Amino acid sequence: MTIEFSRELNPHPLPEDQRARLLADPGFGRVFTDHMVTITWTAERGWHDARLRPYQPLVLDPATAVFHYGQAIFEGFKAYAQPDGSIKTFRPEANAARMQKSAERMALPPLPTADFLAACDLLISTDRAWVPRDGEKTLYVRPFMMATEVFLGVRPANHVTFAVIASPAASYFSGGLHPVSIWLSQEYTRAAPGGTGAAKCSGNYAASLIAQRQAAEHGCEQVVFLDAVERRWVEELGGMNIYFVFDDGTLVTPPTSGTILEGVTRDAILTLATEHGHRVDVRPIDIDEWRSGVASGRITEVFACGTAAVVTPIGRLVWDGGQLSIGDGTTGKVAQELRDALLAIQHGHVPDTHGWMHTVC
Ligand SMILES: Cc1ncc(COP(=O)(O)O)c(C=O)c1O
Repeated sequence: MTIEFSRELNPHPLPEDQRARLLADPGFGRVFTDHMVTITWTAERGWHDARLRPYQPLVLDPATAVFHYGQAIFEGFKAYAQPDGSIKTFRPEANAARMQKSAERMALPPLPTADFLAACDLLISTDRAWVPRDGEKTLYVRPFMMATEVFLGVRPANHVTFAVIASPAASYFSGGLHPVSIWLSQEYTRAAPGGTGAAKCSGNYAASLIAQRQAAEHGCEQVVFLDAVERRWVEELGGMNIYFVFDDGTLVTPPTSGTILEGVTRDAILTLATEHGHRVDVRPIDIDEWRSGVASGRITEVFACGTAAVVTPIGRLVWDGGQLSIGDGTTGKVAQELRDALLAIQHGHVPDTHGWMHTVC
């Protein structure tokens, strides 16, 4: 049994011609659909008051706990128009499960998977006209949860709001697929053992922004973080996991041992790479191995992966005092092969033999 949703349709949805104009060039995270879903949780009643309603501002009291103590988590996955006209999402149960883990870490109430899926499916099916039908564009779905109790005091909130919004999206990095430059943050870390690195909590991203700004100042699109203890082991990017490709075809990705977000894309690539005949080692890799491996030719490709950027090659690593180039400025063979394989499944161009696609409508 899932929660019952009340439905209030937007009396003024964006006219079709204006929507078409936005869908022609949506960018990433700038444009939002006509509706949203909210569900309320209180300590007394649990999850209740599930509503589909017009997309609108949330009006919050200045003393709302999330503004002060940052008790907030989120998720992100995509809906894809299929060749037969249906709409499917990619492994949304994995996002539901990860949100439950994030909730547990942040002392928020877990939302059952069935309710998470029902909320997302209801929004996507109501706003199905917003799912782009051309090229690699998708509808990015953003579930989030925050402490909405009006209270000043450091303790888990007794009033929580879960919401879902959706945003048509083109390529995450402007300029389409190209090898990106990455800034190595040696000053700041993202996550420490016992901390919140494995949770998709808003604070992790707030804490990464200063490093992201330094990345931009050094001409880089993203930042890569090392572990907080030895400042040596490569962990992940600000919003993506990382893979290394070795000259014998082996792929290496760091283990997600509490300080790294367990990416759904990372997990799918573990499977796809093996099916494509690669050996995949989940093991720590240190920054010196990265540098010397590229210099010696042992490491032939490095790529980032995540929902937003799918598989994106890393062409340059920049740090305070140096830089190195990886590859020849084009997308590496393995990154391209895995990107194509994943996109083919997501966009329905090949059969979904893994049961990864979830039919929405
Ligand atoms: C810090 C971080 N690492 C990795 C990922 C990749 O995760 P996924 O593949 O589930 O999008 C994300 C994006 O959600 C992220 O924010």
